[in-house]
Amino acid sequence: MEQTLILLKPDTIQRSLSGQIINRLEQTGYKIIGMKFMKLPMDKANEHYNEHKNKPFFNDLVSFITSSPIIAIAIEGPNCVEKIRSLMGKTNPTDAAPGTIRGDFGMSLSMNLIHGSDSVESANRELKIFFDDNELYSYNKNIDEWILE
Ligand code: RTP
Ligand code: MG
Repeated sequence: MEQTLILLKPDTIQRSLSGQIINRLEQTGYKIIGMKFMKLPMDKANEHYNEHKNKPFFNDLVSFITSSPIIAIAIEGPNCVEKIRSLMGKTNPTDAAPGTIRGDFGMSLSMNLIHGSDSVESANRELKIFFDDNELYSYNKNIDEWILE
């Protein structure tokens, strides 16, 4: 089953939007298999955003993501990587469609509320940065038979 990493960025927690955003994630039917409230250490922020290390915005990006606590969430379900990306909306909230998380709550490119892995390969790499194997839970929900075929 596919898994993906979601981060609720510092602006989400500061603006008290965590509940509303987690609600949107849950109501898809995807299963939360791990969750952590944490202040991201600098070394993990560098590792997580390693693909952007040569970009001009890298230092600002790492400063922002380590500036205040975040919530890391692991989600599981069919096609969840792509589906969560579409639920998030485009990177810049001013381009993101209404109905998406960034489109509904965001205005700023850096404070765009949420991260989601952009491919299955990224998800597998990123999940290891935030969760040990024993922090991801495999469990049944009785309602799954009404959600999953
Ligand atoms: P994320 O990794 O946070 O889920 O966002 P994303 O895939 O939609 O966008 P990505 O290209 O991976 O960029 C990571 C974050 O860097 C900031 N950014 N700033 N100043 C700029 O041109 C610029 N471009 C990207 C955004 O906050 C983006 O979420
Ligand atoms: Mg990205």
